[in-house]
Amino acid sequence: MNFKQSLGLFFVLMLTISHTNASKILAAFVFPGKSHAMMYNTLIKELLHRGHEVTFITNFPLGKDLGSNYTEVQIPVYDFWNDIKVHFKASSHFDLTTMTMKGFMEMLDIIGEKVTEHALKQPNVQEIFNRTDTKDVYDLLLVSQFYQEAFLTLGLKYNIPVVTSSTLGYENFYSHMMGIIQPWSFVPHGFLPYDDRMDFWERVINTISSFYEDVFREYVYLPKQDALVQKYLSHLPIKFPKMSEMERNISVMLLNSHAPITTPRPTIAGMVKVGGLHIQKPKSLPTNIKTFLDEATHGAIYFSLGTNIQSADMPPEKIQIFLDVFAGMKQRVLWKFEADKIPKLPKNVMVQKWMPQNDILAHPNVKVFITHGGLFGSQEGVYHGVPMLGMPFFCDQYLNIKKATKAGYALSLNFPEITKDSLKHSLTELLENPFYSENMKRISLIFRDRPTSALETAMYWIEYVIRHKGAPHMRSAGIDLAWYQFYLLDVMALIALVIASVLGVIIMMIRYLIQIRSKSRKIKVKSS
Ligand SMILES: *[C@@H]1O[C@H](CO)[C@@H](O)[C@H](O)[C@H]1NC(C)=O
Ligand SMILES: *[C@@H]1O[C@H](CO)[C@@H](O)[C@H](O)[C@H]1NC(C)=O
Ligand SMILES: *[C@@H]1O[C@H](CO)[C@@H](O)[C@H](O)[C@H]1NC(C)=O
Repeated sequence: MNFKQSLGLFFVLMLTISHTNASKILAAFVFPGKSHAMMYNTLIKELLHRGHEVTFITNFPLGKDLGSNYTEVQIPVYDFWNDIKVHFKASSHFDLTTMTMKGFMEMLDIIGEKVTEHALKQPNVQEIFNRTDTKDVYDLLLVSQFYQEAFLTLGLKYNIPVVTSSTLGYENFYSHMMGIIQPWSFVPHGFLPYDDRMDFWERVINTISSFYEDVFREYVYLPKQDALVQKYLSHLPIKFPKMSEMERNISVMLLNSHAPITTPRPTIAGMVKVGGLHIQKPKSLPTNIKTFLDEATHGAIYFSLGTNIQSADMPPEKIQIFLDVFAGMKQRVLWKFEADKIPKLPKNVMVQKWMPQNDILAHPNVKVFITHGGLFGSQEGVYHGVPMLGMPFFCDQYLNIKKATKAGYALSLNFPEITKDSLKHSLTELLENPFYSENMKRISLIFRDRPTSALETAMYWIEYVIRHKGAPHMRSAGIDLAWYQFYLLDVMALIALVIASVLGVIIMMIRYLIQIRSKSRKIKVKSS
């Protein structure tokens, strides 16, 4: 190759690279969950960092100085908790903690309808839908896989492929969208506190729950999303297919899930595991926290109930139990507590309304993490190898903690039943019995061991879908089959028919032979 040719090749390569490097992405994440935003925000910032142009529909401003390639479409935060409390006649979050699995599905149904409608109503969101020049405006729709299906319409509106991002990790109903089978015999429903080894009654409940959800989505939940599309988007010159059809057109799903904290299950290339994507390299701690932890010669306990449940809302007698137990320990305690002061705070306890959780968990003196067991926090605990004391309140928290206790890196307490003795006993076990810390270390190493980091994996697949303008070659043909074909019921019916016919013929032949024999006997008897 001479110099001119190499130079030509160089420019061609530069062009191709810059093409992948600078795409226009429309991102819609309308659910106002702060913990969920940790995943979305990390994705968006990294896309910008890689030189993409991003238009981001979000509840929470991403920050300043994100450059001219960033357009924010901010929507006001909607208080869905209020609707949920009204529906369940609850006065505080703590009244919702005994919610059944069915109740939890109702809650998501409310979130899906109210939050999506609230977002569709916003004039700045409508502008995106109303836009008339849609050709080559965007290259990809990145959208939340969390109860806002109506926003999939943006994919058709701009004729672009769709990547979704699921903060929950795997859900059993995703299998319909991706054209695979989830065997309910060993794949537990995401909201049940089961793992992959279920006894008979657990399998019964798992099957009924998963089936109920499928039927509920198809006949109750998705039609509400269809109705929202009708209500807010019927003026557009596009005929949108039904949601249940549109959601089968997703190119890649990014799942907040990874081994070993998700049990093995059938999957497909388009379901990409990026669990722990939100976890960033630890930053240096604020001085007060850093000093507090550095000087914790006997180790420290970090206590946070996440963003939905506030420690300050705990019943006062429960707060007292924690304070009394902490006061009797030689370890120091960092407590994310949302009130200004706690009276008679023990010397070894420090409270603060907000804590840099990831950076705290990364500190070597932190020996135990008291947590509600939310997915994001549990992943941070696992990533940094800190044994956990779980106090689950709702839904997937029970499952996360159950898995953690079963894997031997956590203990669990039922919040309403906590006593000084049980709390003291659990904390002592976690601090002094090496069983928990050793298991945690092992699990942590497995969780971190990947060919590329979670964030790089996500970026690879987003850019892959952009480069190939979708991923129809990865789509399971199972999506396009009727349900009786998908489950081979037609083939089984044919086989059953053939077996029945053969058996029928054999039975008829035996009957015929018996008849002939008895006839010939009668003739013999007569003749004799
Ligand atoms: C902004 O996007 C353009 C292409 O759309 C890209 O060439 C440029 O590098 C991006 N700028 C930054 C600061 O990332
Ligand atoms: C979008 O278009 C519809 C129908 O023409 C109109 O009612 C609505 O006000 C428009 N919204 C915005 C923000 O332009
Ligand atoms: C699926 O996506 C492609 C573009 O990627 C689009 O042409 C097609 O109409 C979509 N179909 C449905 C049912 O959304």
